[in-house]
Amino acid sequence: MAEPDPMELLADAFDGEPSPFGPRGLLVLRARPSRAFARDALVCEQGSKPLHAALDAEGREVHAELPADLAEFPAAAVCLTRARAENRANLARAWAKTAEGGRLFVSGAKTDGIESLQKALRKEGLEVEAAPRRHGRVLSLVRQGEAPALFAQWLEEAAAAPRVHGLGRDFVTAAGVFSWDKVDPGSALLAEALPPLKGAVADLGAGWGFLSARILESADVASLDLVEAEHAALACAQANLSDPRARFHWADVRAMPLPRASHETVVANPPFHDGREVSLALGTAFLEAAARLLKPSGRLWLVANRTLPYEKVLERAFVEWSEVGGDGAYKLLCAARPRPPAARGRQAR
Ligand SMILES: C[S@@+](CC[C@H](N)C(=O)[O-])C[C@H]1O[C@@H](n2cnc3c(N)ncnc32)[C@H](O)[C@@H]1O
Repeated sequence: MAEPDPMELLADAFDGEPSPFGPRGLLVLRARPSRAFARDALVCEQGSKPLHAALDAEGREVHAELPADLAEFPAAAVCLTRARAENRANLARAWAKTAEGGRLFVSGAKTDGIESLQKALRKEGLEVEAAPRRHGRVLSLVRQGEAPALFAQWLEEAAAAPRVHGLGRDFVTAAGVFSWDKVDPGSALLAEALPPLKGAVADLGAGWGFLSARILESADVASLDLVEAEHAALACAQANLSDPRARFHWADVRAMPLPRASHETVVANPPFHDGREVSLALGTAFLEAAARLLKPSGRLWLVANRTLPYEKVLERAFVEWSEVGGDGAYKLLCAARPRPPAARGRQAR
């Protein structure tokens, strides 16, 4: 059973009313595309590039980060993600952006922790209405008086930029970004295995910059392109890497901003979730993007969960590939000699 989309749950809660609070009346944090709302009904915040681009294509006002100078809204909504600390901080931010007497909504699947959020709000003495839906619910409350003390605590927790230790130094991370509280074990394995690199290198799905920091240890690396879809993660990477060789791209690898056949090496720990769903397609797109980005003599270094069948994709996209290490949970793969696009098609048949 597919999980409910928080944006569709939210639309349901308004019984199909396309503009429930008038033009620009509803602020939505972590907004997602939806045909249910009128084009000008929403002001959206979304830091994920693919979702941001989809909202933009719907003609919506969408910000990667809400500008500080926006006036208060008659109503605000939070679409939950899997990241508890981010959800809590977004709820506190939504309260702060709602006018006195306005309405606040929280929309999410049970698996996003909507029930525990409801409990926490009620424990704080807030009157919360809940509209249960299949596998999810929408909470609604009136924004009245001072912000609950709990909200200040949630904001502080999210703002206290977490620090992760790795490669003999500290990195800043942020609530909601991948592996915010520790170095990912797969990335740690790949970091240990990487040989000295040179020339133009790209880190696809660079996150807060752990693998990039490792890559920049090679003195012969001339430039490093970090491609990352999450705005907050890329901002952490920028804070973590002051090396002038690093170039930061807030981008979806499926809409690659870098030229073909331009890089000596690509390094990646591809995601295996596309938004809320487990997806092999997104990881496959990473490998195909790497093949396009590499020079004919270029090489891809990859770490993946052992269960993911990326070998078939490598076979299609590269002339040579091999497993070069790993452990029970992860495999390290190295691929060379990217096939030209036409040959990739023939290989697939
Ligand atoms: C498995 S994590 C690896 C992060 C980082 N390289 C590390 O080792 O800690 C995959 C990263 O890919 C990013 N990502 C997901 N979808 C993406 C896309 N379509 N384009 C670019 N990056 C994406 C995620 O935000 C996440 O930071």
